Amino acid sequence: MVELTLPKNAKVKPGKRHAAPAGAKNTREFKIYRYDPESGENPRWDTYTVDLDRCGPMVLDAVIYIKNEIDPTLTFRRSCREGVCGSCSMNIGGRNTLACTQGIDELGKGAITISPLPHQPVLKDLVPDLSNFMAQYAAIQPFLQTVTPEPDGEWRQSPEERAKLDGLYECILCACCSTSCPSYWWNSDRFFGPAALLQAYRWINDSRDEMQGERLDALEDPFKLYRCHTIMNCAQVCPKGLNPAKAIAEIKKAMVERKL
Ligand code: SF4
Ligand code: SF4
Ligand code: FES
Repeated sequence: MVELTLPKNAKVKPGKRHAAPAGAKNTREFKIYRYDPESGENPRWDTYTVDLDRCGPMVLDAVIYIKNEIDPTLTFRRSCREGVCGSCSMNIGGRNTLACTQGIDELGKGAITISPLPHQPVLKDLVPDLSNFMAQYAAIQPFLQTVTPEPDGEWRQSPEERAKLDGLYECILCACCSTSCPSYWWNSDRFFGPAALLQAYRWINDSRDEMQGERLDALEDPFKLYRCHTIMNCAQVCPKGLNPAKAIAEIKKAMVERKL
């Protein structure tokens, strides 16, 4: 289920149709959510017919094609085009994912619907306001904290200690997981959500960090951590194949174990 956070009293209306260029033989429709708060108009769904013979194979290629060739007013975020920066996350065909790693031909037949990440305020078109998401990331203090003086050289880890960060350090903060989590939809002002909690566990689990106790103390709260009800949407959508639900379960386990 996808729910957009609409402006007050807004109704999403049918929008403009942009036909295929003359002579195009291999086409696909893209139905894209359009909203400009400065216009005072309701959001709408615009439909663009893209000539697939003139654009690359990924959804981001089609979105860039639309902006360059059909409608320069379309607004979206992107940077790396390699699934590394996390900025092109959007809801494509009802599922949060990265536009740059989502193949067009992997999306079956018919029109492809694209909307911003759900349940976030929309700044414009496909650009959600992730201020709260980023503030929660900052709140978990995502940096190494120690009390012993730094060594002269490298701060060494054994291969086993380093391996404990696998499945955690790869997170690119795309927000696909948090914005597909029902608990986060309803409590995003107080529940940290799967992305920030996976990142929190990355530091709790780091053999070099010496603030594990303080980090757990900071999460010992009925909302920040314990609003996860193991619904698992987060693990299903993560485009990097990570499992935030498992990281959250590990934090809860660490909370229990330190009291034994
Ligand atoms: S497992 Fe927890 S964090 Fe993940 S989607 Fe479900 S409630 Fe949200
Ligand atoms: S855990 Fe996955 S889905 Fe969530 S922010 Fe990180 S990379 Fe994105
Ligand atoms: S553009 Fe960087 S992850 Fe898609």
